[in-house]
Amino acid sequence: MIKRIGVLTSGGDAPGMNAAIRAVTRKGIRTGMEVYGIGHGYKGLIDGDMRLMNIAHVGDIIHRGGTVLKTARCEEFKTDKGIDKAVENINKAKLDSIITIGGDGTLKGALELVKKGINVQFIPATIDNDLGYCAYSIGFDTAVNTVVNAVNGIRETGMSHDKTTIIEVMGRNCGDIALMSGLAGGADAVLIPEVKSDIDKIIDKIKEGISRQKKNSIIIRAEGADISTEELTEEIKKGIGEDVRTVILGYLQRGGSPTALDRNMATLMGSEAVRLISEDKPSTAIGFDGQNVTLVDLKKADNIENKVRADLLELVMTLA
Ligand code: F6P
Repeated sequence: MIKRIGVLTSGGDAPGMNAAIRAVTRKGIRTGMEVYGIGHGYKGLIDGDMRLMNIAHVGDIIHRGGTVLKTARCEEFKTDKGIDKAVENINKAKLDSIITIGGDGTLKGALELVKKGINVQFIPATIDNDLGYCAYSIGFDTAVNTVVNAVNGIRETGMSHDKTTIIEVMGRNCGDIALMSGLAGGADAVLIPEVKSDIDKIIDKIKEGISRQKKNSIIIRAEGADISTEELTEEIKKGIGEDVRTVILGYLQRGGSPTALDRNMATLMGSEAVRLISEDKPSTAIGFDGQNVTLVDLKKADNIENKVRADLLELVMTLA
């Protein structure tokens, strides 16, 4: 019996999703499977938006950000009616397994399908890196590099004009992008949702810099931190008695050509998903520990708490 599998990307796009789609499609076909690309994530499952993929469909995409399958945040899939419709379409198309590529919302959706008896292999892809069961998600490394490049540019103009700059980065409720780009970008302080912000300490740090002629401090604030960018800007302006610039990096953090790490991670995990299906393994949350692919029972993956290296906040300030 030829195995038929479906692949979809869901939630926020992340650089490297295309490399995962390529790996799934080509490994699947070359393992003797039929691979169906599902458009617009779970919405496509509800609408029956599927097409048979061939090797050429995924040509020239390994280096592209975004997702050729398109993605969506689908409210309908959070309802019983929506899930039932998706399951009906999976069964109608006689798909043996679904490979879902996305973040925590996608993982929750995968769990709903598993509860209905569908075999699902999950591949983590979100710039936020907020999935507790694995160390790295696809897209995180690219997003951090994008932020670091922006910080490099802001540092140059800030240095020329003697200006302190507050940079807001994405990450939803997770501080990983802020923390890792702050460390790599040589920021003076980082604010993350997981740790209560100490504004006085940050102001003292900036003032200490000014007292030794360093007038271009860089503060990185994760979007989920406990003080808004506006409030933070006002507090710092007041505290240091000087003007402060604010930059909100926004969606540019989600685009861009994936780094080699994101491409290779996506390729290894995509290939692993196909291997698991070809060997009739149960639903799995696939992960990556920095070097190797890791596997966790999909039903358990969502309950593993995400931890950030909060100790690095102090290191950022020590080295500033
Ligand atoms: O999950 C990725 C992400 O970019 C978050 O960092 C951000 O909070 C969110 O998506 C924004 O999503 P949307 O475009 O749906 O508002």
